[in-house]
Amino acid sequence: MTPDQLTERLTLCGTAPDSELAALVKEAGLEQIGAVLADEVLFRCDEPVNTTPVDIALEILHGGETHRVVLRMVPGTPIRVLDGGDTSAVIRRHLRIELSDLVQRLYGPLHRQHSGDFTDIFLPDRPENLSELPDILKATHQAGGTLLSGCTSEAPGLGSLSVKYGSDKWASFHWYTQHYENHFAKYRDRPVRVLEIGIGGYAADLGGPSLKMWKRYFHRGMIFGLDLFDKSALNQNRLNALTGDQGNPEGLRELAEKYGPFDIIIDDGSHENEHVRVSFDALFPYVKPGGLYVIEDLQTAYWPRFGGTPGPVTAPDTSVGLLKRLVDDLHYAEFDPKPESRSLTQQQVIGVHTYHNIAFIEKGVNGETSIPAWMDDEAWKALGAITPEEGRLEGESR
Ligand SMILES: C[S@@+](CC[C@H](N)C(=O)[O-])C[C@H]1O[C@@H](n2cnc3c(N)ncnc32)[C@H](O)[C@@H]1O
Repeated sequence: MTPDQLTERLTLCGTAPDSELAALVKEAGLEQIGAVLADEVLFRCDEPVNTTPVDIALEILHGGETHRVVLRMVPGTPIRVLDGGDTSAVIRRHLRIELSDLVQRLYGPLHRQHSGDFTDIFLPDRPENLSELPDILKATHQAGGTLLSGCTSEAPGLGSLSVKYGSDKWASFHWYTQHYENHFAKYRDRPVRVLEIGIGGYAADLGGPSLKMWKRYFHRGMIFGLDLFDKSALNQNRLNALTGDQGNPEGLRELAEKYGPFDIIIDDGSHENEHVRVSFDALFPYVKPGGLYVIEDLQTAYWPRFGGTPGPVTAPDTSVGLLKRLVDDLHYAEFDPKPESRSLTQQQVIGVHTYHNIAFIEKGVNGETSIPAWMDDEAWKALGAITPEEGRLEGESR
């Protein structure tokens, strides 16, 4: 079992019977599973706010075994996992939890109340210097709060997450997260597979802010990013940074065969109009039914240097032209004459939601039929009623 497979199976345990988790422990062992969970907790933890450095232990129990991770929380620095043999550790607090309870907390449904599932051993040893006691008490309390902030599937809103991780999806030139909140809410509790084209980051900054934001938001999600540049150093549990060119349809299909199908695909890559179309054509078939394809930065449809037309009416080969075509495809049942065969998008696009510079395309079965033509004048005539035509006032047109 690869680490990715183990992680994915653990996310599924959040809603599966306990026997699934027990079987997984038999296969992979508590140590490996505990390491994945501790990693997840660390990723979700708020910044430490304790005023004095504290070592605190997270202990995961299963069948008489314990997996212990000791965390050092120092004001102003990231939380550090101490080596098992680190003799400098002075553990001020032990937070103990059954494996299945922690899995529930991390990968179970949102908004479920958890209480009393931790055994809290607070200040097991008296500090040597009693004058330090007030500071130690306060810092131990704060460090416990930080650790608990990571033991939950709840997350701040996408606007806050965008700012926290440094994505430009909110509070700069873009105001996208309000739309993401609306369209993504129903996927949030599901074990989704998400692919975002465009990882971000320049020069020494490796990037990946939005991938981290999706990882935090979709607490059961497997997140994949694609970028022209190698950003595999970002790889971690539930986050995979892949390398490739969104202008290469063969490469996109290969990637999708390997890692897809996806519940959600987001195009935040080069924003070249040709790339947007090529990527959509190659990847839309790999969106699951009921899934979404998102295109950001539609402004480039109006920028000639990105292959756009300056407006006021964009050309069909731009991203906005693609969306206009999809609105037509959505209404293929109304065409006269009806098409003999339907394109994939005519069959599978069931919604096109556009906002300023961002669009959400819904995939499903576009099978609604048209209002029958006979509902027009013929039906009225058959009823012997006055037709809408006859009922019109002089000079009034249809
Ligand atoms: C706007 S940034 C992505 C920002 C990120 N999604 C976020 O929200 O923080 C665009 C990224 O697309 C990548 N990119 C540019 N051209 C590309 C291409 N042809 N294929 C794949 N990625 C590309 C760039 O390297 C850059 O990292």
